[in-house]
Amino acid sequence: MDNPQPFNDDQQLLADEAKYCSFGDTVHYSEPPKIFERCEGSFIYDSENKPYLDLQMWYSAVNFGYANKRLNAAATRQMNRLPQVASQYLHREKIELAKAIAQRVERTWGEKGRVHFNVGGSQSVEDSLKIVRNARNGKSLMFAFEGGYHGRTLGATSITSSYRYRRRYGHFGDRAQFVPFPYCFRCPYGKKREDCGLYCVDQFARLFDSEYYGVWDPKMGVSEFAAFYVEAIQGTGGYVIPPPGYFEKLKGILEARKILLVDDEIQMGFYRAGKFWALENFNVKPDIIVFGKALTNGLNPLAGLWAREELINPELFPPGSTHSTFSSNPIGTAVGLETVRMLEEEDYETMTFAKGAYLLKGLKELQSRYKIIGDVDGMGMALRAEICAEDGFTPDKAMTDRMVDEALKGDLEVGGKTYGLVLDIGGYYKNVITLAPALTISQEEMDLALKLLDRLFHRVTRH
Ligand SMILES: Cc1ncc(COP(=O)(O)O)c(C=O)c1O
Repeated sequence: MDNPQPFNDDQQLLADEAKYCSFGDTVHYSEPPKIFERCEGSFIYDSENKPYLDLQMWYSAVNFGYANKRLNAAATRQMNRLPQVASQYLHREKIELAKAIAQRVERTWGEKGRVHFNVGGSQSVEDSLKIVRNARNGKSLMFAFEGGYHGRTLGATSITSSYRYRRRYGHFGDRAQFVPFPYCFRCPYGKKREDCGLYCVDQFARLFDSEYYGVWDPKMGVSEFAAFYVEAIQGTGGYVIPPPGYFEKLKGILEARKILLVDDEIQMGFYRAGKFWALENFNVKPDIIVFGKALTNGLNPLAGLWAREELINPELFPPGSTHSTFSSNPIGTAVGLETVRMLEEEDYETMTFAKGAYLLKGLKELQSRYKIIGDVDGMGMALRAEICAEDGFTPDKAMTDRMVDEALKGDLEVGGKTYGLVLDIGGYYKNVITLAPALTISQEEMDLALKLLDRLFHRVTRH
């Protein structure tokens, strides 16, 4: 590509942002916020054309690399052919994408269902709440996890654990009952993974032992709760990976109580965690899957859900139950269709597990040298490094913030060249570097990432 003109009016842009932009629709994690100009593959470039190796890829929306040629070409083709059409009419890409996703789910879990589109993860979570309430006679109570994140519209915040997102706005829907996630490094029950016997699921099961625990009417055999919203691997919560057997046991309880399992794959879907859907790693079938982000590689805010036929058939969930002017828009569905086709053609599972294992090994090697890395873990290419005090356990948010700021300075040196790193912070104590590199990252780029992280840890621990 042509070398872009250096773009040196960052100061003016920041002044205009301060004056004209609402600050309510974003959070700047670094001060001043970085302005980027172009991107390609695993790299994003600032106004001085400095390269930053991106290890978070727009919170896992750009799984297939920035400016992915095949997916960009699908957007361009659609742009030149049928870029606009009202959703009351049909276009082939919408139908073919719905079919491709529904058939994929059917092959994986042997369940028939339908696909429903909207314009973002939160909006699709809202739609899933309607499907659940409708299929369970208007019941509005949900279980969700501590540390879970499902978006920031009013309904989605009611099932997202952070009160911070609700504090100013009051309640619009019923707030979920939040259940401890199996966060074994910081077990909420003080147990050890090796011999806990999945004590946390037993604690959830206990809620149904007596009517006095507030969720179950044993006389009628009905629960007051309609669904349990889960992320198979918590995203914003810090890429927390549950232990084997957890979800199987949980699903058994839910099935027995006729409580639906809603699988939020918005961040972990599309091979982030080594499988098309992250929940496939845990041997349980969802009733509803919500997806977004990487469906279009971040090119278009198309998102959606799949639900079992019994929950979403048109007799039960009739036309117009939800609607947005831009839902199932032609450019988004064309890119989504190309994404799903691309995923059918190559063995992403083997590739993502192999790359993830390589990165995890590298992170473990760093952990052996830097005491502030309390925990590292990963599944597929969803990886975490928990930054702690020298005891390896006390969360160190200040150090984590410092690491992100230092990484963004763009002055880490490897092989005589300088780079920045784009990192993201998650976790219950905001002390987890959540790593979501492009699934297309090359071997050289993975080695560069580990070297840059080494330089970064060296810098923040020595000075
Ligand atoms: C697991 C999960 N659910 C829901 C959402 C909300 O999606 P969106 O930001 O597209 O509204 C996110 C976004 O980060 C997410 O990670």
